[in-house]
Amino acid sequence: MRGLEIPENANVLVGLGKADDAGVYRISDDLAIIQTVDFFTPVTDDPYLFGQIAAANAFSDVYAMGGEPKTAMNLVGFPSEDMDISVLRRVIEGGLDKITEAGAVLVGGHTLEDAELKYGLSVMGFISPDKILTKKNLESGCRLILTKPLGTGVINTAIKGGLASKEVEETVSRLMAALNKEAAEIMKRHTVCACTDITGFGLLGHLSEMTKGSGHGVRISADQTPIIPEALEYAGMGMLPGGAFKNRAFYKSMVSFSRDVDPTTRDLLFDPQTSGGLLICVKADEAQDMIRELMDAGITDAADIGEAVAGDEKIEVF
Ligand code: CO
Ligand code: CO
Ligand code: CO
Repeated sequence: MRGLEIPENANVLVGLGKADDAGVYRISDDLAIIQTVDFFTPVTDDPYLFGQIAAANAFSDVYAMGGEPKTAMNLVGFPSEDMDISVLRRVIEGGLDKITEAGAVLVGGHTLEDAELKYGLSVMGFISPDKILTKKNLESGCRLILTKPLGTGVINTAIKGGLASKEVEETVSRLMAALNKEAAEIMKRHTVCACTDITGFGLLGHLSEMTKGSGHGVRISADQTPIIPEALEYAGMGMLPGGAFKNRAFYKSMVSFSRDVDPTTRDLLFDPQTSGGLLICVKADEAQDMIRELMDAGITDAADIGEAVAGDEKIEVF
């Protein structure tokens, strides 16, 4: 964070200076803890599903660092004047189910009176200090694997506009509520140099974060990048979330598109994701195996979308 002076500490292995998915603090030579926190306002009318999505999203940064979630705490903003307490109960039940699925335990939390409902988790996880996966550790020739399709921002905008079908709403809710747990387990069986998860900055924003200061650029195939088909349809009708415009304005100077990438696809590559997939940088000769294992685990949208190349810190989309 610019302007703030953070005292140095030798046990902080990943801190604010490096701006990664989560902070990492060394406890001993073979154990470090990962800490992260995330909460937001509802992305669906279903309180139970909202709880699941917010929790899955909060765990994602632990998985992106290569870690294993251990404990979680609830963070709740609740408008008790306008909302029945049973709504909050369902939200927390949804979160609790994801905490259990992640193999973690709920150890506490805090609720405050708020104008609108907010929910999320603070999460602590374990990792071995020599296994930490940072964003910027790209290696030349490695392949980039994306584990969930893009388009949740567009679909959520279409849902709010009353345009999305019930079917699409269900598909996208399922996607957002899915933990990145299995993808992370498969990732750990391979030679992986870098990883992050795709959230608010969109694919191209997160790729910018990975490449900046890494001494590497990336080449991305738009055709190979998994996108929810209905998201392309709705984006073509102008259903773009504000975040997509912000991401484009902020990151476009780092991106060059080849002429045959159509405008709607470009928009989707900037679409902010809620609880998106992992973006994994894996040794090229293991990429095929990793994709097959992801498919076998039911992560059927996983795709090899491009590669890291030494040199200019640029994103080329072709
Ligand atoms: Co992240
Ligand atoms: Co986060
Ligand atoms: Co990481």
